[in-house]
Amino acid sequence: MSTATATSTVTAWPDGRRITIRDLQAATDRGERWSMLTSYDTLTAGIFEQAGVRALLVGDTSAEMVLGHSSTLPVTMDELIPMVQAVVRGTRTALVVADLPFGSYQAGPGPALASAVRHLKEGGAQAVKLEGGRRVLPQVETLAGAGIPVMGHLGLTPQSINVLGGLRRVQGRGDAGEELLADALALERAGAFAVVLETVPAELARRVRGALRIPTVGIGAGPDCDAQILVWQDMAGLTTGRLPRFVKRYADTRGGLLEAAGRYAADVAAGRYPDEAHSYA
Ligand code: KIV
Repeated sequence: MSTATATSTVTAWPDGRRITIRDLQAATDRGERWSMLTSYDTLTAGIFEQAGVRALLVGDTSAEMVLGHSSTLPVTMDELIPMVQAVVRGTRTALVVADLPFGSYQAGPGPALASAVRHLKEGGAQAVKLEGGRRVLPQVETLAGAGIPVMGHLGLTPQSINVLGGLRRVQGRGDAGEELLADALALERAGAFAVVLETVPAELARRVRGALRIPTVGIGAGPDCDAQILVWQDMAGLTTGRLPRFVKRYADTRGGLLEAAGRYAADVAAGRYPDEAHSYA
């Protein structure tokens, strides 16, 4: 029995079709926490789905994790769409959420709709995500009105790095917490199906969760959100350097790859690979 089948008999998650935003809401309504990871390629997408991760985000963090940029700002729709296609091809049941990159939606509902439609038509995604609260409500209303599921993103919004003054600052302390709560309520009213809360105090996330019906998806938002998301390379130990406090490493993928590649290079240098067993007669 596959992992997905075993899980679905217990939790009522669908096995023979893709998870929808209604399934995510139903899980939240019955008090079941669920997880998301980022994914930018076919193979990791399939692994994460098999592991029971319900929704995958083709995030603009691909700018850093895949393309080597130092922020999320440079990635474009044209660069994201092939990654969305790859993640969709690699999955059968996971809900695929595609990020709207910086510059693709801020100008208003028209550009936002055009970008979101590309993610669904060309990429095959089932939903999109954008950053911001009340300032992007017209965009959220337009997308939701067009039948496009929209995930909001509040707190630390990396596309605003140039005004936030760094990506490690906890957002929403003091009066800013009331603003964030108002943004979250406005997103829900505008038709968002979920909202990411990034790098905010756990107490604020608890309040937001209590005030919303739609799922809250935490990343650095404490234990009380309905769902959690991490960048997969952080979760699996591929990234280096100092990581945010909220990241928990579940594997040493970097160490494993380094060791494998080192043994391969040494075997080639010593003439041990390829040997007879790996050659054609
Ligand atoms: O792009 C991304 O990976 C994200 C997550 C960190 C939430 O927005």
